Amino acid sequence: MSAEVNSENIEAAGTGTAMNNRERFRQALRCQNTGRPPVWLMRQAGRVLPEYRALKEKHSFVEMVRTPELATEVTLQPIQRFGFDAAILFSDILVISEAMGQKYGFREQGGIEMEFTVDGEAEIDRLNEKGVAERLEYVGRTLPMIRSALGEKTGLIGFSGAPWTLANYMMEGGSAKEFLKAKSLYYSEPKLFERLMGKLTMAVTEYLQMQIDAGVDALQIFDTQGGCLAASDFMPASGRWIGEIIAGLKNAPPVIVFAKGVNSDWSALASTGAQVLSVDWTVDLPSLKAALPDGVGIQGNLDPYLLRSTPEIVANETRKIMDSLAGFPGHIFNLGHGVTPECKLECIESLVKTVRGE
Ligand code: CP3
Repeated sequence: MSAEVNSENIEAAGTGTAMNNRERFRQALRCQNTGRPPVWLMRQAGRVLPEYRALKEKHSFVEMVRTPELATEVTLQPIQRFGFDAAILFSDILVISEAMGQKYGFREQGGIEMEFTVDGEAEIDRLNEKGVAERLEYVGRTLPMIRSALGEKTGLIGFSGAPWTLANYMMEGGSAKEFLKAKSLYYSEPKLFERLMGKLTMAVTEYLQMQIDAGVDALQIFDTQGGCLAASDFMPASGRWIGEIIAGLKNAPPVIVFAKGVNSDWSALASTGAQVLSVDWTVDLPSLKAALPDGVGIQGNLDPYLLRSTPEIVANETRKIMDSLAGFPGHIFNLGHGVTPECKLECIESLVKTVRGE
């Protein structure tokens, strides 16, 4: 498939059955899909795509995120190349910290650098949780542009970081070897921890509501750092706040919760109100299905490492995962975490073709 596909081809890619990609995605989100599972990949935009790297020669990451035309272009790139069933807004979880008063940028040697660290009461009090949707109005302008470029044939996913994961980045001041400061606040200063989480919960709720009002088909909440908590602390330190966010949304589409490494109490995770759980590659899908309440879908869970291997290996491992949930109407095919820069395009192509049965 060529990178220079026009919008006609977006509509053509991956169709051929009566149901279009968006309908397939929307039905799987509700555990009502009777055909092959829909497929999209976390971090499908950016990183590995030559067309993204070409655009990055001319614009910084933050500029692309903040400019609706550019963010739309990057969101569409993986759809044009691979024909995924759903597109995910090109942005970052850290726009929330920026909107609350703590800017983010990139270190030259890779990774994220925040403007300062949130390490005490003074910084927490200074964070502004009100008016976040107004300061992120560029996202409200981007989503309808993506929707109209996609047409009716491809799903659209909005997202946010979970308060716990956001707090970890904000307190460490960016990417870190070990994330310890949020944990320390949780154990040693519970009142202050609650104040920070309350603010983040309010900001994320307002931001996701804006995305709902702009017409997304699903929302994903990324709790990439959830797995660093002890099993019994996940709900009070993170899950509780995810639950408050979901409960606070109006007219919400299905919410997908990705709590990486949080693999012990599935009923507790589902009790956040998640319609779909996105799980990492260490999880055995049939056991998960058996443990979940009826009506909760499963997203995942190919090991992203495999996208560095060969198209044949990817095809085999993809088939195994599909077979393990064969007949389950709530499976959305994805990786167990995001695409990395080392992944090979021919492996992604093999994954998508295998899911489509091509
Ligand atoms: O999935 C998608 O393609 C949509 C866009 C998206 C990005 N980041 C774009 C991005 C999403 C959903 C995210 C989520 C995100 N961002 C998470 C949670 C999930 C996860 O992937 O773990 C986290 C923890 C972040 C914070 C973040 N953003 C870090 C730590 C980094 C630097 C390291 C890295 O992974 O590259 C980023 C940068 C980032 N976010 C890039 C992209 C395309 C790479 C920027 C570049 O190199 O051009």
